[in-house]
Amino acid sequence: MTRILFVCLGNICRSPLAEAIFIHQIKEQNLQSDFQVASCGTANYHIGDTPDQRTIRNALKNGVTIDHRGRQFGLSDFVDFDLILAMDQSNVNNIMCVSGADNYVQKVKLMRTWDSINTGADVPDPYYGNEKDFQEVFEILNRSMRNLIVELTVKK
Ligand code: 4NP
Repeated sequence: MTRILFVCLGNICRSPLAEAIFIHQIKEQNLQSDFQVASCGTANYHIGDTPDQRTIRNALKNGVTIDHRGRQFGLSDFVDFDLILAMDQSNVNNIMCVSGADNYVQKVKLMRTWDSINTGADVPDPYYGNEKDFQEVFEILNRSMRNLIVELTVKK
């Protein structure tokens, strides 16, 4: 069982979508029992909130359903998850600002480590963008997730 936590800033756009795409893909491959996944934000702005309506609608357009409520990243997440996947470098910096984070640095990685295009770049924040930006985020995450799942499945 691999436990994966997707992290962004607000936990209403990128990381809930990442979580939903991951779940969608592992269901397609009948791998649900191999993984436990969740998402959260480093900020406290959207605790308890549903994801951004633009994210929900864009995901549905691409065949993916999102069911999530916002929550904030905390120290216990370092223990509760094996892999902490940040959407961008500022998320990594915020995660590493949590007291005690130094002991868990090896668990924290950028999501686009697994992208075949612009490997290691940030997943751009679509919050102030338009539908084209939301679709770009979907494609980045969909692509990265396929490679991540292949890697995690081969390693088993
Ligand atoms: P996310 O996008 O980090 O992908 O969820 C954001 C959502 C909300 C805010 C910033 C980024 N905000 O400032 O409220």
